Amino acid sequence: MNFLLYGAPGSGKGTQANMLRSRYGIPHIATGDMLRAEIAAGTPLGKQAQPILAAGHYVSDDIMIGIIRNRLRQPDCAAGFIIDGFPRTIPQAEALDVLMTELGRHFDRVLYLKVDMELLLTRLSGRMVCPTCQRTYPPASVTCSADGTPLVQREDDKAEAVRPRIEIYLEKTVPVLEHYRGEGLVSEIDGRGTIEEITARVLAAIGQNGRFNS
Ligand code: AP5
Ligand code: MG
Repeated sequence: MNFLLYGAPGSGKGTQANMLRSRYGIPHIATGDMLRAEIAAGTPLGKQAQPILAAGHYVSDDIMIGIIRNRLRQPDCAAGFIIDGFPRTIPQAEALDVLMTELGRHFDRVLYLKVDMELLLTRLSGRMVCPTCQRTYPPASVTCSADGTPLVQREDDKAEAVRPRIEIYLEKTVPVLEHYRGEGLVSEIDGRGTIEEITARVLAAIGQNGRFNS
């Protein structure tokens, strides 16, 4: 099973990817989480990426394509994967097409979580994250239920970074959806409602025995 989670900042990609990871036992490959891990470890890539993420801009296509090429070749991806946060530009989408062909893989579904702007802003401004395992939590959550770490606010959820993130998504990432629509792979999922309601919609879109519903 190879899934692509697509949606605006705050649409619930990380939340639903956690569910899919537990259910299918396949890795959740989140490029934002990978970059934040590099930043936390103080690597050269992390030092380069830190001001870019803090401002809500995108890291260069070359760097991101290199990261995903390396990650999808790891042994834990053999049985499938859930990609969250990539591709975010048309050059990234084209590079991923080439890579998937090289690997002899294809996406079973592109799951598009559709959420209106007002709700995105509410979710981002209240979101809490675990600095250890990167799980996300709703507003007012205090500690991580998986490892007990005190939760923090993400640097790019501060008000000054949220608007550039939405603007760059509209400009660069919305066209990526059209790329996959052309291939008939997109399931559009209403991303409003409780986490459990959206999970039920995601699972319905995935369907049973390889039969997918749009
Ligand atoms: P990334 O980490 O991917 O951020 P994003 O796309 O902006 O998405 P988010 O993680 O903010 O939102 P999400 O959809 O995962 O929502 P979540 O489940 O947390 O990327 C960060 C940065 O890295 C980018 O800005 C860029 O700089 C860089 N980057 C990454 N990939 C790149 C690439 N390919 N190219 C270039 N640069 C790249 O949910 C949000 C909140 O809502 C949470 O608090 C959650 O608990 C809550 N919530 C979720 N669902 C519900 C619900 N149904 N009801 C109520 N609350 C809910
Ligand atoms: Mg996320």
